[in-house]
Amino acid sequence: MSDQARIDLDGQGFEAEVFEGTEGERAVDISNLRANTGLVTYDPGFGNTGAVKSDITFINGEEAILRHRGYSIEELSEHSTFIETSYLLIYGELPTAEQLEGFRNNITRHTLLREDMKPFFDAFPPDAHPMAILSAATSALSTFYQDHYDPNDPHDVEVSTYRLMAKLPTVAAFAYKRGIGQPYIYPRNDLDYVENFLHMLFAVPAEPYDLDPDVVTALRTLLILHADHEQNCSASTVRLVASSQSNMFAAISAGIGALWGPLHGGANQRVVEMLEEMRDSEESTERFIERAKDKDDPFRLSGFGHRVYKNYDPRAAIIKNKANQVIHKLTGDDPLFEIAAKLEETVLSDDYFIERRLYPNVDFYSGLVYRAMGIPVKMFPVLFALGRLPGWIAQFREMNIDPDKRIGRPRQIYTGPPLRSYVPVDQRA
Ligand code: SDX
Repeated sequence: MSDQARIDLDGQGFEAEVFEGTEGERAVDISNLRANTGLVTYDPGFGNTGAVKSDITFINGEEAILRHRGYSIEELSEHSTFIETSYLLIYGELPTAEQLEGFRNNITRHTLLREDMKPFFDAFPPDAHPMAILSAATSALSTFYQDHYDPNDPHDVEVSTYRLMAKLPTVAAFAYKRGIGQPYIYPRNDLDYVENFLHMLFAVPAEPYDLDPDVVTALRTLLILHADHEQNCSASTVRLVASSQSNMFAAISAGIGALWGPLHGGANQRVVEMLEEMRDSEESTERFIERAKDKDDPFRLSGFGHRVYKNYDPRAAIIKNKANQVIHKLTGDDPLFEIAAKLEETVLSDDYFIERRLYPNVDFYSGLVYRAMGIPVKMFPVLFALGRLPGWIAQFREMNIDPDKRIGRPRQIYTGPPLRSYVPVDQRA
């Protein structure tokens, strides 16, 4: 295959190098296109644009393949723990027992928030969306821990990694407690990462909280399944902030903001709200599907479709498989799960969705599992963020040391008014 591409325009030729990745993906390097031709490319949503070279995650959307540092999501979700998968994403290799213990201890010993940060949570209205609190508190952490957050200092990057991994579950649990008016529950060092988060979320000072092993296992699997997904909207946001040499707290805070959108991580909340609408509506599921296909109707089926997967999202397949058993065990049959399964069956046999290769994505069933665990719907995107945190950290760290790194600054094509002269206000129509 050729390792050169050529663009011919106005009698001019531009040669561009073509290079190949580990899995045979090929790219045309247009780094000098504008300097040599005056041309820029136009690619809304960057669906055809590779922004970086990355060693972290590989996705083949046609074959529904997802691997982290070469390990399949099926194997990691079956055999790994969230802390071990986080180590793999951040450092590139599965840890030895000693490395894993050291990583786990560094996180465990950073889970407390400074006491003078607690009023920060009280300042929010009780009905504040927890993603707003999570994003604000993540950036605010850099003001309470100013000793080590220089992105150009490898030691500070290491300390910031532990602090973010350790403190975000505490921040998320405090945000939840703020919303329901219950006392904040402090982290416990005798519990593992997932157990500790569930304890901070659901325990009350008045009585012991018994962890349900099935809930712990289900949440551990969900966090692993959300851990990274290469250059999605929020990871690209984290990288863009990193490219200006801003600190990791600011970058992750921006990533949380991007994830919140209903087209991205906020979809897991929208899916359950949509299924509840279907359950309570006089209209049939088929009517909702017709609306989703109607270009004049803004309604879209949340939890379906994906920029990269043109096949069943492998994460959705794993979640669906586990969802049924977890939901049944925790709450018995859930009518929303039945509606979801029927909706999926109808959609996957509908030509509109088949032609556009729209399948269930990671958000379609995840919310139903969170709901069965007793987690409120507004917290679903927060759970997605906690899962995605090691991926964002890995993407930030890789961006930080990328030899090709430049500040992110896309070009545009201007389509506004041509030059015109200023008109004083008393002479305007
Ligand atoms: C995540 O990028 C990642 O990796 C993200 C993620 C991760 O782990 O980080 O996987 C997590 O964000 C999953 C996606 C969650 N979002 C939703 O479930 C929201 C519903 N889905 C859509 O809004 C949409 O599918 C997107 C946003 C996910 C993808 O949008 P694209 O790639 O820009 O696709 P598109 O909007 O151009 O759709 C192509 C066609 C269009 O129809 P035509 O113009 O060709 O006629 O498919 C249609 C769309 O109208 N379409 C849908 C649809 N999704 C796409 N029609 C009805 N319902 C839908 N859900």
